[in-house]
Amino acid sequence: MQANTRLTLSPNYAFMLDYRGRPFIEQQVEPVVQYWVTPTFRELLSRFVSGNTVEGAIREVSRVRPLRDGERRGLLKEVTTAMQAGLLVPPDSDPSMYTQSMLKAYTSTRTIPADLVGDVIRHGKIGKKSHVLDVGAGPGLLSLPLARVAGSVTAMDISRAFLAEVRRRARKEGLPLTTFLDSGSRLRHREEKYDVVTMCQSLHWLDDIAAMRGAHHVLRPGGQVFVIYSSGKLAKRHPLLRALTGTQRDLFTDRTYSGPRYARYLRKLAAAAAPITSDTELRPVAVRAYRERRVFDLEFARGYFTPAHASDMDMSFDALWKRIEQEFKGARAEDLKGETAWTTAHFQLSTSRAP
Ligand SMILES: C[S@@+](CC[C@H](N)C(=O)[O-])C[C@H]1O[C@@H](n2cnc3c(N)ncnc32)[C@H](O)[C@@H]1O
Repeated sequence: MQANTRLTLSPNYAFMLDYRGRPFIEQQVEPVVQYWVTPTFRELLSRFVSGNTVEGAIREVSRVRPLRDGERRGLLKEVTTAMQAGLLVPPDSDPSMYTQSMLKAYTSTRTIPADLVGDVIRHGKIGKKSHVLDVGAGPGLLSLPLARVAGSVTAMDISRAFLAEVRRRARKEGLPLTTFLDSGSRLRHREEKYDVVTMCQSLHWLDDIAAMRGAHHVLRPGGQVFVIYSSGKLAKRHPLLRALTGTQRDLFTDRTYSGPRYARYLRKLAAAAAPITSDTELRPVAVRAYRERRVFDLEFARGYFTPAHASDMDMSFDALWKRIEQEFKGARAEDLKGETAWTTAHFQLSTSRAP
């Protein structure tokens, strides 16, 4: 690392203080991890929030408090560790695993059923006066159709590549859509207010309670939240199913985001996300289900799997790909057909009943 290396604090992290005022850094995306830091290193990290050189950040800290040579060397060592941990990153790096290389396959294969989108518009009463926040918006497969009918849509994500795509497509159509790069787990720090918050296939990447509590925080009274998920339903002989294990396999056997267990999770989530000091709560309104016949081919897999999926199955991304390609070899077109089960969990910000 050079003294003039330019770095920025990854948007995946937030500064926090514990009850004694000791500083720590919290990773705001799954897995939520806390790193304890010294007050001087915390001060140094804060100098990188809007980007800085290593030399510049150390100079700014030493203006506040003169540093001994040993301390300066210690800080440089910690900067190197922070870079290895992904806490300090080059300013143009993409903090998401959803990168440019996935974009084309993602946008062409991960389409969302029109009837589901239509129901979000109808039940969310989205019209020209509505302001919508789409959390984990990706390349905008939901944000764009919503922006065609809403007064404004804000697409929030940590993927630079996907946000650039949603901006490009919105500009081309002249839609009222803006983007911002930040973690959906940090909504409680936002000041804007919205009528509708959507989280489409993204809540599992977030601290779910922080995200729901954040949705509560940014909603206007009577506002609506839609948590949308999909899971595949593939026959045992499908090559993709043969390549997967554990939870990743369950996601293609329709045993995850549906049924009474999922409904129980949603109720618990709504209860856990209710701020103690507020007289409003996110009340579950309905869970709506949709089914769609589709093809799950290699291009679908290219737009689906990230290194996080591979590590969940205890393997490297390369090993996962070798396995997928191996299983798809010689597969017939009819073997690739399957079904997607979608669910939309609908919540409304309502006044709590008296205890
Ligand atoms: C499966 S994609 C869903 C994209 C889009 N909503 C859709 O349904 O097509 C998950 C998205 O969540 C984003 N994401 C992951 N962690 C996030 C975080 N902490 N905050 C905001 N977005 C996040 C990813 O960058 C990715 O774009």
